Amino acid sequence: MAKVAFIGMGVMGYPMAGHLMVKGGHEVTVYNRTAAKAEQWVKQYGGKSAATPAAAAEGADFVFTCVGNDDDLRSVTVGKDGVLSGMKAGAILIDNTTASAEVARELHAAAKEKGCGFIDAPVSGGQAGAENGVLTVMCGGDEATFEKAKPVIDAYARMVGLMGDVGAGQLTKMINQICIAGVVQGLAEGIHFGKQAGLDIEKVVDVISKGAAGSWQMENRHKTMNAGKYDFGFAVDWMRKDLDIVLTEARRNGAKLPVTALVDQFYGDVQQMGGNRWDTSSLLARLDKK
Ligand SMILES: NC(=O)c1ccc[n+]([C@@H]2O[C@H](COP(=O)([O-])OP(=O)(O)OC[C@H]3O[C@@H](n4cnc5c(N)ncnc54)[C@H](OP(=O)(O)O)[C@@H]3O)[C@@H](O)[C@H]2O)c1
Repeated sequence: MAKVAFIGMGVMGYPMAGHLMVKGGHEVTVYNRTAAKAEQWVKQYGGKSAATPAAAAEGADFVFTCVGNDDDLRSVTVGKDGVLSGMKAGAILIDNTTASAEVARELHAAAKEKGCGFIDAPVSGGQAGAENGVLTVMCGGDEATFEKAKPVIDAYARMVGLMGDVGAGQLTKMINQICIAGVVQGLAEGIHFGKQAGLDIEKVVDVISKGAAGSWQMENRHKTMNAGKYDFGFAVDWMRKDLDIVLTEARRNGAKLPVTALVDQFYGDVQQMGGNRWDTSSLLARLDKK
């Protein structure tokens, strides 16, 4: 049992912190910018809440963050009252935000200066994965720090992998998003085509999902896509944030991502349609628009 702090009681952080408490058996202190969510978490799980990230991190062995983007992450770590001003030497900062590899390297350096460890640890598996404690966690950092952090991360994960040095977790998450972007657009086009052709989409998917075209997206999203339902899941705004990180990194490393860049623009169209909070499968709404 360890002393743990968790910063960011969002869709993901709230249940992840819960698993650290219940499944991990750790002593958990949470912080959330909007205090009501932290209070609600304490009511549900019985841990503690703190008034600032620094106060939550005081005395903790492991400090988790799961906020929005790079700037949000900087604000709760190296900003005023950020966790690094409260962390003790030897403690480990584990960041679950989907952010850039650059900010991961920045935080690693800042943590090192304080005698602390750092692991970038973005996740995949969505809200359901977080609620069920079965996320896939892609880590970057040194092996010794990872070995200490892994048993704690295990409380909310089904798969935890060390992908390489600091930043490698974020780079792996970028690959995850590149793969998703193309697959979802392909699936949207397939369903759109099937509707235009007058076929029964359920019947089509029932058959082709067992063959080479099958995917997680097809299995888990075709029903809601066919019904035009998008008010759930991983928001288009988040996906655009992720694809911006991906395309910036690609400009840096010279990777060619023509389909990803195109799908990013398609998500821009979905935002224009008012779909900022729609699930990423809403690429179909753009095609079905009359
Ligand atoms: N949702 C998913 O399916 C999913 C899947 C994989 C990865 N992710 C990634 O996980 C991260 C969190 O996603 P989420 O869905 O949990 O988001 P969310 O529900 O919008 O929660 C974001 C959390 O970050 C806090 N926050 C944001 N900016 C802040 C700042 N400047 N200072 C302090 N706190 C701040 C928010 O506090 P308030 O409550 O005060 O707003 C909230 O607790 C994102 O990087 C996202 O891309 C999400």
